[in-house]
Amino acid sequence: MSGHGLLKGKKGIIFGALNEQSLAWKIAEAAHREGAEFMLSNAPVSQRLGKLEGLAEKTNASIYYADATHDEDLHNLMDAAKEKLGGIDFMVHSIGMGLNVRKDRAYEDLNYNWYKKTLDISAMSLHRCVHHALKTGTMNDGGSIVGLSYIGAQRTFTKYSEMGDAKALLESIVRSFAYRLGKNGIRINAISQSPTKTTAGAGIKGFDSLYEYADRMSPLGNADAESCADYTISILSDLSRSVTGQTLFHDGGFNNMGISDELIADLNEAYS
Ligand code: NAI
Repeated sequence: MSGHGLLKGKKGIIFGALNEQSLAWKIAEAAHREGAEFMLSNAPVSQRLGKLEGLAEKTNASIYYADATHDEDLHNLMDAAKEKLGGIDFMVHSIGMGLNVRKDRAYEDLNYNWYKKTLDISAMSLHRCVHHALKTGTMNDGGSIVGLSYIGAQRTFTKYSEMGDAKALLESIVRSFAYRLGKNGIRINAISQSPTKTTAGAGIKGFDSLYEYADRMSPLGNADAESCADYTISILSDLSRSVTGQTLFHDGGFNNMGISDELIADLNEAYS
């Protein structure tokens, strides 16, 4: 797709690009295509994977490593963004990790230290990012903030386990901040994305079944990472300037479905 200058003159921070599969990676490529200038951020531990430099070079971005659960890291990142970019018009929070999910710990037997860490990394970090962007005066009035979510925030997907709780908190933080940020014309929304084959996705046991199930259920099939990036651009752009506090489904229509003919055919075959 060629660019339309939708983010021309806009500056921002994109959190969570780990490798070419990452939703944030595709969002960064699309933001660059649309004329944005931005910083890329990820946890210091992700440095050993050494992939972010390639993306930064491709998108003329700078990198600032910060743990999104550490206030000091975020405060320093925001100061650096203010110095480098003179303030930001958008933020993309594409961060998530479920420690119990990764370690296959059953929901009824959660390790609570891991659970706390999951909520901290996957949800509270959005609050922290917004808090530090405001406190340091880095977020410009009229800006747009997006966090990535999943329908497991609102419905039970058994293997999604604690991550459903984390995403429910994330979506609630979006609603709670929408009112407060609205006073400065700043918008905040969650984009609820289809299952997508990324590192975070692969960390969920039974992900392949979840992916296939959603694909068979969705009128348009699963939304891929590239289309998620394009949709995110529209929410960061002025075209959606009156939209805030929403969980916006970007899932090929999955959230409206009860059952599909494709799934019925599969079930008939399985149970015949
Ligand atoms: P990913 O694994 O590429 O991205 C997750 C990112 O979170 C990584 O870059 C990781 O380094 C970062 N991260 C983890 N702990 C961190 C910390 N303490 N500080 C800063 N960054 C940290 O996977 P993906 O799928 O691109 O995930 C991005 C977002 O999209 C997540 O919020 C995820 O829950 C959400 N999402 C993913 C779906 C999927 O099926 N892949 C579906 C719906 C939402």
